[in-house]
Amino acid sequence: MQQPQVLIFDSGVGGLSVAQCVHQRLPACALHYLADNAFFPYGEQPEDLLIERCVRLIQKYLQRHTIDLVVIACNTASTVVLPHLRAAISQPVVGVVPAIKPAAALSRNRRIGLLATPATVRRPYLEQLIGDFASDCEITRVGEPVLVRWIEEWVAGKSLPEQELALLLRPFGAADVDTVVLGCTHYPLITEALQRACPSVSDWVDSGEAIARRTADLLGPAASAPVAPASVQAHFTGPLPAALGAFMARIGLPPVALSSDTPEAC
Ligand code: DGL
Repeated sequence: MQQPQVLIFDSGVGGLSVAQCVHQRLPACALHYLADNAFFPYGEQPEDLLIERCVRLIQKYLQRHTIDLVVIACNTASTVVLPHLRAAISQPVVGVVPAIKPAAALSRNRRIGLLATPATVRRPYLEQLIGDFASDCEITRVGEPVLVRWIEEWVAGKSLPEQELALLLRPFGAADVDTVVLGCTHYPLITEALQRACPSVSDWVDSGEAIARRTADLLGPAASAPVAPASVQAHFTGPLPAALGAFMARIGLPPVALSSDTPEAC
């Protein structure tokens, strides 16, 4: 049995929250992290460009590396890119959608917050998720473009502007939500700061565990058998974030091999 190889894709460092969950559930897997940070943030890009770019980058990566499964660890890209990517490659693809269903199961006062990128907040599939799983809940949406930038900078060593963060989350306190869906993979990286900024919220729900479970199901039981030490290699299409290796170690990922590639070279 060969060591399973999983590619995790995002526009920046957000997918590391997903890599962390996949690594915890499947410590025997070799992880490949591909971040298209030359095009960050995806939340401000037109959909047709995202589709073309994500499919091309991932296809290029698959030509150079043997990969068993691809995770699109980006809410903003997932719904628009998944059908196109699945049609273009033979590997199974796992996507991510905001965790509306688990949040609806948790909320006691039926008031849920959704924190996401502006693109995710306005996509029609969100209305469908709410209609399917949370039709009895009042949903307060905060679609804030600046938050992903703060998190990219924070991972690179800058402090988070916690007062501004508290201001940004004020609609959740005002609406008395008890549960907030983290609808962007960057956000679970700063859960503690979110809790400090909006202490009236009791549950912050993300999709990382669900993605890791789905990845494990698709790879099958053999993926859990240790055949080689876990490893991660990370490729960024733009500049490598400062101190990335140290950050990855801090969130429990194995030692990382880093490279900053042009889209054509990765
Ligand atoms: N991590 C991405 C997501 O889950 C970030 C989006 C962006 O680049 O705007 O949506």
